[in-house]
Amino acid sequence: MTTGYFATCARGLEPVLARELTGLGAADVGPGRGGVTFRGDPALLYRANLWVRTAVRILRPVIEADVRSPDELYDAVRTVDWAAFLTPAHTLAVDCNVRDSAITHSQYAARRVKDAICDQFRERTGSRPSVDPERPMVGLNLHVHRDHATLSLDSSWDSLHKRGYRPIQTRAPLNEALATGLLLRSGWDPATPLVDPLCGSGTFAIEGAWIALNRPPGLTRKWFGFQGWPEFDRELWNAIRDDARRGVRKELPATIRGSDVRRDAVEFARTNARTAGVGHLIEFDRLDVTDARPPTGPAGTLICNPPYGERIGDEKDLVGLYRTLGKAFGTYWAGWRVLVFTGNDWLARQIGLPVKTSLPFFNGKIPCRLWEFDTGR
Ligand SMILES: C[S@@+](CC[C@H](N)C(=O)[O-])C[C@H]1O[C@@H](n2cnc3c(N)ncnc32)[C@H](O)[C@@H]1O
Repeated sequence: MTTGYFATCARGLEPVLARELTGLGAADVGPGRGGVTFRGDPALLYRANLWVRTAVRILRPVIEADVRSPDELYDAVRTVDWAAFLTPAHTLAVDCNVRDSAITHSQYAARRVKDAICDQFRERTGSRPSVDPERPMVGLNLHVHRDHATLSLDSSWDSLHKRGYRPIQTRAPLNEALATGLLLRSGWDPATPLVDPLCGSGTFAIEGAWIALNRPPGLTRKWFGFQGWPEFDRELWNAIRDDARRGVRKELPATIRGSDVRRDAVEFARTNARTAGVGHLIEFDRLDVTDARPPTGPAGTLICNPPYGERIGDEKDLVGLYRTLGKAFGTYWAGWRVLVFTGNDWLARQIGLPVKTSLPFFNGKIPCRLWEFDTGR
């Protein structure tokens, strides 16, 4: 039997996530705004949580309703027979996000959902589930947009983009799911070299290594929301994870390299790569971008995310860097695919090389583009 799901992602990544899900065997895959709907059996749900690189969480919608107040929300939640999803012996938690709605207080809305479920159990059985906000056995996600509420079981619980290898934050690190989504969208062939000469905390290089090794992003994660569900099939899950573990390559098929002008960034990148289990496979160096050179051998892909500033006046400081990038790419990286992710179109054009494509994405709330430049042959 298949169930309907909604995998959430950053806007702009929907087509990439849809392709990932289709590749895993999901049915009725439908990219929407900020996520992708699909259908699948429990094995597919487990595989999706383990394998998808670009999703934030995978939700199983239980009820949708138009509600204008927390009390209407309470009444709507009471219409569901919750015995189908948990028992009083289960712990629960409700995570809530509210946008442009008459219901303004998200924590109060979450509490009304929890009350509705607990009251139903108390009236029917005399006992009720208790709350565990950290690691509930059944985690719920309430999304309210305008007056439309969707309440779902959260099969992931902690965001899937939190891979666990990046405890240390450098300045402006890229979200892991976005970095990997850009790599997947860029058309980079994992059998060819990958270089990020402004690598910061090393996200492109580390995510690229996991792709090239066929290593699922959730391989060492300790907990997925579905593991607390009453119907959780531990044997099936262990088989899926063991199978994935056996399929991880030991060596990269081609060089992956990162460099950055800041010494602390390079140290962070090395530490993160070690935590991600790929420290021995990626080369990280402290270099100004003008001193970075392609590895010997066949051409590959250069991808980077230079600073783009958010305040007025930042542009002036950064224009020199973007012009330098253009000169360095045109001089030393001819024949390579060169991709630059930035939130400033004007700065991107200062690179001065012919533009092949520019694809729109969001970095949080900031509209950004992935630019591909022609470096000549
Ligand atoms: C927005 S951050 C990159 C973040 C990175 N993608 C990550 O996930 O952590 C930009 C990086 O460019 C580096 N950078 C700035 N100017 C540079 C230069 N001239 N040569 C090399 N790196 C430079 C900065 O030190 C910074 O780490």
